[in-house]
Amino acid sequence: MMLEIRDVKKSFGGLTVLDGISLDVEKGDVVAILGPSGSGKTTFLRCLNYLETADSGSMTFDGEKFDLHSTGKRDIARLRRKTAFVFQNYNLFLNKTVLQNVTLGLTSGMGMDKKKAEAVALEMLEKVGMADKLQNYPNQLSGGQQQRVAIARAMATNPEIIYFDEPTSALDPELIGEVLAVMRKLAEDGMTMLVVTHEMDFARNVSNKVMFMEGGKVVETAPSKQFFENPEEERVKEFIRKIQNL
Ligand SMILES: Nc1ncnc2c1ncn2[C@@H]1O[C@H](COP(=O)(O)OP(=O)(O)O)[C@@H](O)[C@H]1O
Ligand SMILES: [Mg+2]
Repeated sequence: MMLEIRDVKKSFGGLTVLDGISLDVEKGDVVAILGPSGSGKTTFLRCLNYLETADSGSMTFDGEKFDLHSTGKRDIARLRRKTAFVFQNYNLFLNKTVLQNVTLGLTSGMGMDKKKAEAVALEMLEKVGMADKLQNYPNQLSGGQQQRVAIARAMATNPEIIYFDEPTSALDPELIGEVLAVMRKLAEDGMTMLVVTHEMDFARNVSNKVMFMEGGKVVETAPSKQFFENPEEERVKEFIRKIQNL
């Protein structure tokens, strides 16, 4: 098992947001994390990368155990070198070009020399179809193009896993497809991905595993086909009936 996430708990004030989330992830898994708004999906992903500190819980990554409540800065930095995060709102540096957005993590983050970083960045930007916009600034791009740059930036650091938090939710409908196509290709290349999403076609056809959350709990985790065709939990059956009636 590449990633064993165990019993993650998190409260904000008196509000329990994560009430013991566990998940196993194998290398090459694409896990779609589904659930209604407010169910704790974003908080869960953020805890895994220490963007948020869990109250308790652990994660074993490549056999090394990380306490999600208290871990030293160096361990966090080491963990983050194996991971990347793609946000709903892209989080690109607006005062940097497309090329600089991708090279920055390689030069200042990983100490790669500039020439090498630019070569890696170009290769990744080619993969997402953005190599013709190297000198553009984010606000000169569509949302779909910005998100593809953000995905190139995530891929460039050669992570073992990429966390996506609703990567297409901020996009106009006609731009969603180009981002999903890039993610599908990434999945086919064997990248391990945890993807919070409302895109049911992606969950059904690209992800191989689904975790459905509600109220800070896991309702059901199942292989995607089973989740959509033969779920166990009544709550999931109801969810499937609803999306089929859309
Ligand atoms: N920093 C925070 N402070 C207080 N409450 C928060 C914070 N972040 C999230 N929450 C609350 O936690 C709950 C779960 O949020 P979130 O993880 O964003 O859910 P989801 O991504 O599934 O919509 C929500 O009720 C939200 O208002
Ligand atoms: Mg969210």
